[in-house]
Parts: sequence; C-alpha cells; structure tokens
Amino acid sequence: MEGQCVNMSFSDKTPTAAEGGSPKKSKKKLKKEDAWRPEGPRDPFVMLDSLPEKKQQEIQRALHLFSPGPSLPRTLQQAESHAYRFWDTQPVPRLGDKTAAHGPIAEGEVSVREEPYSLPQGFSWDTPDLSSPTVLNELRALLNENYRGEDDNTIRRDFSPEYLQWALQPPNWQAHWHCGVRVDTNNKLVGFIAAVPADVCAYETQQRMAQVKLLCVHKKLRLKRMTPVLIRELTRRVSRQGVRQAVYAAGVVLPTPLSSCRYWHRPLNPRKLMEVNYPGLRQNMNLQRALKFNRLPAVTKTKGLRPMTERDVAGTHSLLQTNGSKFQLRPVWSPQEVEHWLLPREGVIDTYVVEGDGGALTDVVSFYSVSSRVLNHPVHADLRAAHLLHMASSATDLADLMEDTVVLAKSKGFDVFSALDVMDNRSFLDKLKFSVSDSSLHYYLYNWMCPSMSPDKVGLVLPN
Ligand SMILES: CC(C)(COP(=O)(O)OP(=O)(O)OC[C@H]1O[C@@H](n2cnc3c(N)ncnc32)[C@H](O)[C@@H]1OP(=O)(O)O)[C@@H](O)C(=O)NCCC(=O)NCCS
Repeated sequence: MEGQCVNMSFSDKTPTAAEGGSPKKSKKKLKKEDAWRPEGPRDPFVMLDSLPEKKQQEIQRALHLFSPGPSLPRTLQQAESHAYRFWDTQPVPRLGDKTAAHGPIAEGEVSVREEPYSLPQGFSWDTPDLSSPTVLNELRALLNENYRGEDDNTIRRDFSPEYLQWALQPPNWQAHWHCGVRVDTNNKLVGFIAAVPADVCAYETQQRMAQVKLLCVHKKLRLKRMTPVLIRELTRRVSRQGVRQAVYAAGVVLPTPLSSCRYWHRPLNPRKLMEVNYPGLRQNMNLQRALKFNRLPAVTKTKGLRPMTERDVAGTHSLLQTNGSKFQLRPVWSPQEVEHWLLPREGVIDTYVVEGDGGALTDVVSFYSVSSRVLNHPVHADLRAAHLLHMASSATDLADLMEDTVVLAKSKGFDVFSALDVMDNRSFLDKLKFSVSDSSLHYYLYNWMCPSMSPDKVGLVLPN
C-alpha cells in the first residue's frame, strides 16, 4: 500500500441501509476516490520508504520533536473544547454529564445491520486467522511498527506471538471479533481492532461485555477517520452476538471517562533506564544516587511464596472473587479464565501465590510482560516492563507482597515495574519507590451509564 492510500479518507458518517451495496453510490464514490489517488513517484511516503531505515528513524525523531503534539485531548479541560464528531454519535455519556442512574444508553431491541460497513475503494475487511503463523506475523508487523510506543518515539512495543495469543484468545474468544482492514492490491494489513468476551460487574450489574483491545491504524493512514469505521464494524460484529456493552481504556480523553488513573513506574535497572532515556521516569537524580535509591533486597521474604501452578487455579479463583467484591468495576472470571489469564507463560504472564501452613492459598499477585524495542541505541536493543495485573491478599501485607514481587521481577530480568493507581495500589506505590508518571489511563464503558468512580474502586486491568 506504500504511498497508495495517502490521499484517501474513510467516511465515518452513520451509513444508510443502502450504503455499501448500491451501485449508484459506488459509482459516485469511484469518482471521488479517483481524485484521491496518489500522484506517482513524487509521493513523499514513497520517497521516505526509499531511505535507509536509520535515516527514516532520524527523520521521524526530528518530526516528533517539532510536532505540535497529540491532537486528541489528554485532560478533561482540553476535552471541553474538542469536537467529537464520531463519539458524539455513539451511546456513551456526554462529557460533563453526571448521572446517578445505572443502565444502557441505547435501549430496546436495536436492529443490527447484517452486512459489514463500507470501506473506501481499495480496502477490504478481514478476520485475521491467528492460528496461521503467517497471519500472526502480519499482525505483529502492523502493531510493532505502528502501535503507540513510549512518548519520545525511540521505544516501540514488541508484541510476541505468544503475547498476542494470550491477549486475544481467552476462553470463548470469537474469531469475528478480531477485525482487520487490508489493502486490496497487496493484501497488507493496515488497520486492526479486537475484542474479547468478558463478564464485567459495574457496581451491582454483572453482564457480558466486549473488552476492546489493540486498536491500531497504520501510521500512513492516520487522521483519515479509519478509527470510527473500525469501531462501528467491531460494534456490529459484537452486537450480532447479542453483546451490547463494551469496556475499554485509552490514554486520550473521550466521552466520557468512568475513571481516570495514572501510571506509576518503579525502576529495577536504573542504569539502563537512564541510558535509554526512559520517558516514564521522573526521578531527578544522578546515576549513583538512582542506583542506591532503587536498591532492592536480593531475596524475597514472604514464607510460602511460589509460582502459581495448574493446581492453584481453584484457590486463586476464590481468592480473587472474595477480594474483587470490594471494587465497583471488576471482572468476573470463571476458573477457566483464571487459568488463561494467570497461569504463568514464559515472557507473557507471571503469577505467584502464597501457600499458608495448612496448604490453603492466602495471597496471589500477577504481572504481565510488556516488551519494547529500543531504537538506535549503541548498547541497548530492548526493554522489558512488568505490569501489575492482579493482586489479592488475605494474610500478607500488600506492601510486603509487592516488594517481593518487584524483587522477583528484577531477578527475571525486567527493567522496570509499572502499575496503575487502581485497586489498593496507592497503599504501597510511594513506599516501594514507584514514581508517578505523566501518563494517564482513562476507563470507558460503551452503552452503559453509571456514576464515575475513583481509581481505587477500579478492580480491572486491561492488558493491551
Ligand atoms: C489510536 C489510533 C488508531 C487513532 O487513529 P487516528 O488516525 O489518529 O484517528 P482517526 O482519524 O482514524 O479517527 C479519529 C477518531 O477516532 C477517535 N479515537 C482516536 N483514538 C482513539 C482511541 N484510542 N480510542 C477510541 N477512539 C479513538 C477520535 O476521538 C476521533 O473521533 P472524534 O471525532 O469523535 O474525536 C492511532 O493513533 C493509532 O493506531 N495509534 C497507535 C496505537 C494506539 O495508541 N492505540 C490506542 C490504544 S488505546
């Protein structure tokens, strides 16, 4: 597709029933899209592509330095003056609305269109088949080159096949909820959005929702309104399965956050983080001080702490159920889901349990692995972050359990430990030398209204 679609745009108006199939419409469209065709070899992207990778990265860095910043609001204040052309047409609470009610926003039996939404000429919908290693690699290529990295554009996510299978194929996953856009001429995957089924409880209401993940549009097709089309198509596919609510999280402010949280980071390898200029770090200290300040015990201290095994599924399930009931937004996992999301998988998910004297499990803690590539660095090529997923404790002090978890993550070669200030995490973040970053994460519900909640009432982490 290189360069080919630079001048096209996706329509994100609600299509009429006739759209997508009517010959009259497509004739009209053809003309319009002809006018958007690229101008041949002078296309800047073709020129950019012909440069060596290193040169491209230098240009990208320079562009980033001089860019006016993200166009979407990052704070509620910025959001007040933003016109949400797409989101204002969706069943989500309006910004500024306060509600005490709980329930769907679009009520009743809405008819769900049978045919997919129409795409501009030259693009087609796809359902990437993740059982094919080739397809999985195509998805990795899209995400690894285009998914949001850390802010300064020198660190990029590196999704492994194992991570994607974990994130996208939990129990009851639906192939059709993996939704891609390809370019017809060369079959290149240029857009993706996915959802997995999840039973989620918001306040007192438990229901099956679509947990939305991995929205990504190829860099060369940004700001062309592909996102609204991807979201509409995913919503259609999910609704056809009878699921009308979704849960998702984003760093940008959309209508309307249910809760807004912050990322906190705890250096495990301060030297490397300083050398790669890790953007999440806000500690203002020289290397010697940073090494001393972030020093950790060599071994863990909680008696009975060990990696989770298959035999621990039932015990972990009941610990999480008991602990989760205090949160206003929480997942309701089956034992099969506990097994899927928590049972350790090398390079993907680590879970530790504490076995009490009588053999019963008293505590559980898990973190998933976020790998990134470091671009253009003379020494470092990758960066590994451990992200806190779940924690439930009935016997061990949370800060003690977490300190041991951080020690274990360091011993496994992670460079940084990240956590959101959700659940009870505030009780240990400062104490364990996590520092708050500038990045926020906002939680959203689609087609569901309920009062907003503070981060400590959120009992759900959504790995992306
Ligand atoms: C997020 C991303 C898909 C947006 O693409 P884009 O080309 O900037 O935006 P488009 O022109 O396609 O669409 C714009 C619309 O999408 C909405 N949108 C943008 N990012 C969004 C997000 N993360 N979630 C939901 N909607 C989003 C915008 O609000 C806008 O709608 P509005 O008019 O109602 O405000 C793209 O920037 C990307 O792939 N980023 C890297 C991966 C990433 O960060 N994914 C998001 C993880 S939460």
